[in-house]
Amino acid sequence: MKKGFPDNFLWGGAIAANQVEGAYDVDGKGLSVADVAMYKAHLDVKDYAGHVAISSKIVENAINDKDASSYPKRRGIDFYHHWKEDLALFAEMGFKALRVSIAWTRIFPTGEEETPNEKGLEFYESLFKEMRRLGIEPIVTLSHYEMPLSLSVKYNGWADRRVVGLFTRFSNICFTRYRDLVKYWLTFNEIDSIIRHPFTTAGIIPDRCPDGKEEEVVFQALHHQFVASALVTEDCHRIIPGSQMGCMLTKLTTYPNTCNPDDVELTLKKNLLNHFYSDVQVFGEYPVLILRMLENKGIKIVMEPGDAEILKKHTVDYVSFSYYMSLTESAREGLEKAAGNTILGVKNPYLPSTDWGWQIDPKGLKISLLELYDRYKKPLIIVENGMGAVDKVEADGTIHDDYRVTYFREHIRYMKEAIEEGVELFGYTSWGPIDLVSAGTSQMSKRYGFIYVDQDDEGNGTLERSRKDSFYWYKKVIGSNGADL
Ligand code: BG6
Repeated sequence: MKKGFPDNFLWGGAIAANQVEGAYDVDGKGLSVADVAMYKAHLDVKDYAGHVAISSKIVENAINDKDASSYPKRRGIDFYHHWKEDLALFAEMGFKALRVSIAWTRIFPTGEEETPNEKGLEFYESLFKEMRRLGIEPIVTLSHYEMPLSLSVKYNGWADRRVVGLFTRFSNICFTRYRDLVKYWLTFNEIDSIIRHPFTTAGIIPDRCPDGKEEEVVFQALHHQFVASALVTEDCHRIIPGSQMGCMLTKLTTYPNTCNPDDVELTLKKNLLNHFYSDVQVFGEYPVLILRMLENKGIKIVMEPGDAEILKKHTVDYVSFSYYMSLTESAREGLEKAAGNTILGVKNPYLPSTDWGWQIDPKGLKISLLELYDRYKKPLIIVENGMGAVDKVEADGTIHDDYRVTYFREHIRYMKEAIEEGVELFGYTSWGPIDLVSAGTSQMSKRYGFIYVDQDDEGNGTLERSRKDSFYWYKKVIGSNGADL
């Protein structure tokens, strides 16, 4: 039997422009939806389900508020000016791949300019060239929670079909400019998250939706993203021969709380809904049960003539997903809840939790891999996995994050088992290999990195980078191609 990880396995990490770059108004960049996410000092993170309130008023206030200190994603970790140093650290760990995203607003500040912003294009070109020089394969997400705010305000984001054309134009520029540098692409980060946070994912402002129709607007916007995704897949394949386009799903593997058929049915439905998004992007059509579910809810999606053919024709080459924790579902009310990635589940008594209440389930990663590979029979890549934790810097500057090492060790062990049981997994990019601003809470203190960044929630600090214990551990894992955990 063939043991362990395949040769050329893409070990690395994943970051997103809006959570690291900062420099939100530098070199012509426009405001994105991420730039209006405020830090709330007294958030009860354990109860946090991730649905940050948004309204036209909040957006308007944020646009006029030039004080970057309240909006941590405007400063990120200043990757815009530290990227060379950060790439060198990733290379030191032996990274074979780095997942990054392109901020649409660096290329088209409002999304609608006639010509792209050269400064923005140059930034990513330098970044990708340096990655190539260091032997780090770029995996590039076109949309990771950072659409131009202007499109949100003007069109209610992806609710409007015109955004499809604006996005395909942006993507086309990226494919053309980076055709010799980037082979692996992803369209929408966690495309399913539109249902949980429609503003962050698709620029939808609830008070701009017709009364009682917010859910319908969300599904309409999602349809636009599906169509856009298929169109850019076609474009990518045409412009970059041999390129690979993937979809990206938040894998929210859900278990029934008991074997009571009520729990089992509810769980089945949760999992069907979770897979619906990648089903469309892999199989090229909406699942029958989902179409019926929408119909039963009275939700009508406007599909233009030709949409069905577009979806069918341009499906993805591989399936990528994030995995942080599993969820548990029960038909019974009143059970104790556990927090998760922008979602709440019933507390699973068999699992420990992170400082933020997310339940740690390494075996759930193996279950997810088996499930996804059996369903799609496409190459898989895990493009996010990790634990947010409070790190303590010792007097001598060291950081002993053994809890993080344990988290990763167990997840990687189960990845290996899945591979040995037949799953075609070609890479693993852990989330936040360097501390960054949290997507959900905009906190800096929720740290994911192997590399510590000296900055607190309010933005105080030197921004100096330092190696945690986990840095040396991950380096060893990559160096041994996963054999030495
Ligand atoms: C994923 C997102 O959902 O979870 C990332 O794609 C995010 O952008 C990650 O950072 C972890 O969530 P959080 O809220 O802890 O940053």
